[in-house]
Amino acid sequence: MPSILIIDDEALITSALRHHFTSLTWDVAEAHTGEQGIAFAEKNPPDIILLDLHLPDMDGLEVLKRIKARHCPASVIIMTAWGSIGNAVEAIKLGAEQYLVKPADLLELSTLADRILETRKLRIENLYYQQRMDHTVLGTSTEIYRLRHMIDLMAENADTTVLLLGESGTGKELVAREIHRQSARRERPFLDINCAALSESLLESEIFGHERGAFTDAREQKPGLLEVADNGTVFLDEIGEMPLAVQPKLLRVLETRSFRRLGGTRDIRVNVRVIAATNRDLERAVREGRFRGDLFYRLKVFPVDIPPLRERMSDVPILVEHFVNYYNAVLKKNITGFTPDALTHLTAYPWPGNVRELKNIIERAMVLTKSDAMDAGLLPREITGVQPAQEREDGPLRGTDHAPIKHLGDVEKDYILGVLKSQGGNRSVTARLLGIARSTLLEKLKKYGIEENTE
Ligand SMILES: Nc1ncnc2c1ncn2[C@@H]1O[C@H](COP(=O)(O)OP(=O)(O)OP(=O)(O)O)[C@@H](O)[C@H]1O
Ligand SMILES: [Mg+2]
Repeated sequence: MPSILIIDDEALITSALRHHFTSLTWDVAEAHTGEQGIAFAEKNPPDIILLDLHLPDMDGLEVLKRIKARHCPASVIIMTAWGSIGNAVEAIKLGAEQYLVKPADLLELSTLADRILETRKLRIENLYYQQRMDHTVLGTSTEIYRLRHMIDLMAENADTTVLLLGESGTGKELVAREIHRQSARRERPFLDINCAALSESLLESEIFGHERGAFTDAREQKPGLLEVADNGTVFLDEIGEMPLAVQPKLLRVLETRSFRRLGGTRDIRVNVRVIAATNRDLERAVREGRFRGDLFYRLKVFPVDIPPLRERMSDVPILVEHFVNYYNAVLKKNITGFTPDALTHLTAYPWPGNVRELKNIIERAMVLTKSDAMDAGLLPREITGVQPAQEREDGPLRGTDHAPIKHLGDVEKDYILGVLKSQGGNRSVTARLLGIARSTLLEKLKKYGIEENTE
């Protein structure tokens, strides 16, 4: 609910305004003196303050100064009578958002308030993303300090090939972007490609480009990633899945910084930094003949290990805080965090899916919660039902010891229903939150026999 504080001593005006904004479902508060207004704003900062310049105990400009001096985040709209517009201009200089001449037109006022609300949201989001950009790889464990040190080193040496090794969800892509962002190549592109996602020929033409007529569908000449990313960074994700036939071409790029487009006869020189990542045991892949030894040794000059989250559990609280803030901005919510009991579960769970799993679980809880503090009931069974991590280092996950086994389909169905309900039946938003295409969602709804009337 958006909130507004009206500071005005004229009862007729305040009651009209209160009525108006209440009917628009705003949370309305009133103060009849400057002192009252300042005290209230400090205790419960509203989104917007409507401030009259003529108050019984002090000048409205004084109120404004004192509110701003205390870093109250509210946006202030000044109301003033004809004849004191000079003061209103002064108020804008002091940080008020706008002024209106009394008697204010209610429609104009609420339009203005809505607009201010909208820009406030954007500003808060921008601020949030900006701060996020400043220190992206979060954590307080020694492992993360060591990792940040490696990132700095790799950023300074902007030509070195890097091999990122870590389980799924540990932050390989994040680290790759961070290395690029801190390096001298930062103004140039960072392009990524997932080597597991494309067929051999498509992957090859994406990376190296092709000449016209190189294959049946090649009607135009097309530059590849390596050319487009010239002077920048290319991130080759899941390098362990790169088809054997493509590997020698990549090796050549790493050794000579040159390559040929598919169907091309001319060598093209590029200056790109390659960062490769894998969650697979490349050494084993080499032994089994699925990965070329020469490429492996060329890549592993600078291996960077990203340890799994369970080996740096002290990072969990700061990551939790971070993702709560993040989803507050994304979902436009104002959730304070988890209850101590829920936190105990989060800090004891061994996180087989690493940071990505933690992130997804927080998103889910934040979508489902009805209150400001999220309790353990919002966490999936495998987290609340499991024994603390230190007691069960002996064996594989036994997460279902205490929980009755549910069919995966039922879990999915319940989850989809929960999210759908929380979004008022909006399928597009639900699909987006779940990270699936709308058409996939519709298929699932049909499969589970969820009726149309949830829309
Ligand atoms: N230390 C961290 N601080 C903040 N966010 C993190 C951290 N580590 C990972 N994340 C976030 O967790 C999510 C998963 O990270 P990322 O995609 O980089 O993992 P990955 O190792 O590439 O996983 P996969 O192997 O499954 O592709 C991302 O949203 C990322 O921003
Ligand atoms: Mg990844």
